[in-house]
Amino acid sequence: MIVQFGSCRIELVQGDITSQQVDAIVNAANSRLAGGGGVDGAIHRAAGPTLMEETRVKYPEGCPTGSAVATSAGRLAAKFVFHTVGPIWRGGVAGEADLLASAYHRCLELAVEHACRSIAFPAISTGVYGYPMDLAAERSLATVRKFLLEQQHPELVRFVLFDGGSFGAFARALEAMAE
Ligand code: APR
Repeated sequence: MIVQFGSCRIELVQGDITSQQVDAIVNAANSRLAGGGGVDGAIHRAAGPTLMEETRVKYPEGCPTGSAVATSAGRLAAKFVFHTVGPIWRGGVAGEADLLASAYHRCLELAVEHACRSIAFPAISTGVYGYPMDLAAERSLATVRKFLLEQQHPELVRFVLFDGGSFGAFARALEAMAE
């Protein structure tokens, strides 16, 4: 599914983010940048050990929730990996929505700073961190849409949804937004 916003587009696909041919791939990391399971584990496995070595050297303090940092992409087809830290869901009363928006926003800023024309996101915070999928889809897409309409960059933002459930949630939210 593709929806155009000005000269940019948001695309939804179902699949594995590590196989995407884009300039930047976003990792759903933790604040220690210590690696983990889920999409974090898959990206580090596919990229190889240089990703963790570079992360340790460049960002020994880690990365705060709602922010993001950039590394090269090891063996991945992308040029960069942006490691962002989404919020842990605590019932919606701990600023989770704004932190989730901030994580997406900072990655999009990094894409512009690194002259990326295309970027692929997973559904940040919706796995181990427990953010409800429908709410995450709405907030994530609204944040990206606003950025694209204001900045007209990057040209392509692709959400790579791992299963049918997450793809459906994002498709419903994007359809509602395009109406
Ligand atoms: N490609 C795309 N999406 C994936 C992939 C993959 N290869 N693997 C998992 N996902 C999906 C999950 O189904 C989920 O919808 O990514 C989404 C985010 O899930 P998590 O990877 O668990 O990320 P998050 O909820 O942000 O939790 C971050 O988990 O792995 C640890 O180190 C990480 O502590 C951090 C926490």
